[in-house]
Amino acid sequence: RMADHLRKYESLFTLTPQRMRMIVEAFKDSLETGLAKAGQVVPMIPTYVFGWPSGEETGNFLAVDLGGTNLRVCLVTLEGEGKFEITQSKYRLTEEQKQEEGQVLFDFCAECLKTFVDSQIESGVIRKDCLLPLGFTFSYPCLQDRIDHGELIRWTKGFGASNTEGHDVVAMFRKSLEKNKVPAEIVALTCDTTGTLIASHYVNPRTRIACIFGTGCNAAYMERAGDIPKISHLGIDGNAEMAINCEWGAFDSFEHENLPRTKYDQIIDETSNKPGEQAFEKLISGRYLGEILRLIICELIDEGVLFLGQNTYKLEIPYSFDTAFLSLMESDPTDELLMIIGIFTHFFAVETTLAERQFFRALAKLVGKRAARLSACGIAAIVSKMGYLDEGCAVGADGSLYNKYPGFAERIHEGLQDIFGEKGKNIVTYHAEDGSGIGAAIIAGSSQSTHLSCREVLSSP
Ligand code: BG6
Ligand code: GLC
Repeated sequence: RMADHLRKYESLFTLTPQRMRMIVEAFKDSLETGLAKAGQVVPMIPTYVFGWPSGEETGNFLAVDLGGTNLRVCLVTLEGEGKFEITQSKYRLTEEQKQEEGQVLFDFCAECLKTFVDSQIESGVIRKDCLLPLGFTFSYPCLQDRIDHGELIRWTKGFGASNTEGHDVVAMFRKSLEKNKVPAEIVALTCDTTGTLIASHYVNPRTRIACIFGTGCNAAYMERAGDIPKISHLGIDGNAEMAINCEWGAFDSFEHENLPRTKYDQIIDETSNKPGEQAFEKLISGRYLGEILRLIICELIDEGVLFLGQNTYKLEIPYSFDTAFLSLMESDPTDELLMIIGIFTHFFAVETTLAERQFFRALAKLVGKRAARLSACGIAAIVSKMGYLDEGCAVGADGSLYNKYPGFAERIHEGLQDIFGEKGKNIVTYHAEDGSGIGAAIIAGSSQSTHLSCREVLSSP
């Protein structure tokens, strides 16, 4: 019986190589359109980060990283030749904070930074009375016309703080820094993908593309300025290079013509705070995978297939099924699937049979595999657009899904081979170590830090 059900979900969630190649073609078109004209579905944002780092960037920088699972505040020391040191503190934002008034959210970030800087001053690491250059990694789509400015186009990943969309988030954060008397000057605004791109290249020069597979899903790569028609009026040398933050999570939004959306994906979309938007991201990222599985389980409860006679109210709570459970279910090493017993009894107070647990594990695999194979389609679109396939390239990747979901990277690699054949092996993803903190520092270091009043901010050891 469970096997019949499984077959249905297999046909809904399985992506054939042929289907993947069709998605890649449509994806490539969207990337090109985004470069050609402003305001397109995939915004292909020029970042004003010009070219690769030289590796010679040195100095001390603060970095604030907002947009992943944690808010991070960091002190980064770049030592040149791809070497660095980083000290950091992490904070977890509550769901309420994500919906607060925007300025209140930035105030909180400034308070966290203040606490961190004060502790570094107290322990004698940072000198007093110095203004520190700050790289701000803000991982939401922002329209930039220079490196230290960016207007939030729209919140993604469930954020909804008011009075922020359409505003310059650098000006807002600066206001909070002043209010809290934080001795920091924002010299660069960047996204986690752009930061990861720059930092990955700093340690591995074969890197051409960076991806985040975490709460959200996105990529950045380096483009020829001459191939970004929408900024031709700026008169930038056509051979100069600029990083593009694709914001590819928006691929196929609104029209929904290219992606294999199931009814569960549609429910997630319609009940989200941004219906129609981030269509690609909603099929892939960690914020949604657990919810997809939960919706399938709820459907089978309603059909009387699962948990007959048991109270299932805990499973009926939206977003109660964490994506981390999928990872655990897929990696359960026991024949009895004891981990899965634990998840269902402990978190949802329901009993499961072995057949049900095997079924849940198979479902997790379908959902996780589809996410990885769609991710491969995005990478393939950039690779194919940029002509990287023959010589091959490295793809720096970060985010909880990439780092923690069992087999995610392998499935991406399999997907690339399904799309490109043997040559797909030329494209290799790897875990980018602390991309956004280091990246923000390098970007800050190669931008305007020279005008800062005090550059030697660290006390000598
Ligand atoms: C972290 C990066 O490792 O991964 C962040 O430092 C990034 O910049 C994050 O946003 C993404 O993953 P997650 O899973 O935390 O959303
Ligand atoms: C969302 C954001 C994007 C970010 C990604 C990964 O897609 O819009 O800016 O890079 O999540 O964190």
